[in-house]
Amino acid sequence: MKHIPVLTKEVLEALNPKPNENFIDCTVGQGGHAKLILEKTGPNGKLLGIDLDPEQIKNCKELLKVFENRLFLVNDSYANLEDILKNNNFEKISGVLLDLGMSSWQLEESGKGFSFQADQPLDMRYDQKRNDLTAEIIVNEWLEEKIEKIISEYGEEKFSRKIAKKIIDQRNPSTGSGQRIKTTFELVEIIKDATPSFYWHSKIHYATRTFQALRIAVNGELDSLQKALPQIISILRPGGRIAVISFHSLEDRIAKQFLRNKEKEGLLKILTKKPVIALDNEHRDNPRARSAKLRVAIKL
Ligand SMILES: C[S@@+](CC[C@H](N)C(=O)[O-])C[C@H]1O[C@@H](n2cnc3c(N)ncnc32)[C@H](O)[C@@H]1O
Repeated sequence: MKHIPVLTKEVLEALNPKPNENFIDCTVGQGGHAKLILEKTGPNGKLLGIDLDPEQIKNCKELLKVFENRLFLVNDSYANLEDILKNNNFEKISGVLLDLGMSSWQLEESGKGFSFQADQPLDMRYDQKRNDLTAEIIVNEWLEEKIEKIISEYGEEKFSRKIAKKIIDQRNPSTGSGQRIKTTFELVEIIKDATPSFYWHSKIHYATRTFQALRIAVNGELDSLQKALPQIISILRPGGRIAVISFHSLEDRIAKQFLRNKEKEGLLKILTKKPVIALDNEHRDNPRARSAKLRVAIKL
């Protein structure tokens, strides 16, 4: 399944790519945004695409073959941005894009347990080689308080306490099966048992928030964002732009506060006083767009 990039017109307006300029896409995915940027930066503008998921790098290489002379792909975390640039001799950067979270391809085809709609092992790592923490480890080995905290904070799940307790009960042979919770469907069943029946029929599936929380925790997503933002400002050329698309209030808060602080320090000017959100017709064609928020700033 091909990922449909969000807010494409708005991202292009924000980054304003021109012929021969260099850009970085920190979350290149299947290259939806990268392609649009490369179309504007010919004949010599380069794009460095980073992704933590090696499968996404393969996908992008295949999908953007026509740009192979100007597209450079690196499998790493954007949290290591400055080192990546040093190793790749990439400079005079006119813009950096962060399109956070996971892509539709990862959700539906990676087989890594991101989706509650397919029965798969509870993994959820973008990068299985560099990360030892899986969703299975969290639900089977972490303390109840810690599980509750991530489901509450990263999932903004109002039944976090009940869900964490049900997970712990399941692990205990006198209150549950005593077996390890290994698959997405086993976890979905536990979440269903832990929540009231009205919740099973709400607009958002009852497992959505718990699954989101686990994904964020497994991949240390908020920590990576916090590490990347200052590096982005330091590597941009004056007049260069940063665009951040977030899908979650905690991510958006981190981006908003960072940009505001840097504006106060006189390092950049914010171009979006309020975050840009998708128009209704984009919501219809691409459900991911519903929660997308774009913030943009220019380096002074
Ligand atoms: C929403 S998708 C990006 C989609 C892309 N803009 C497109 O148009 O195809 C987010 C991507 O970020 C990647 N990602 C998540 N955390 C990352 C990190 N710390 N460093 C680099 N890539 C990361 C995911 O693997 C995923 O492919």
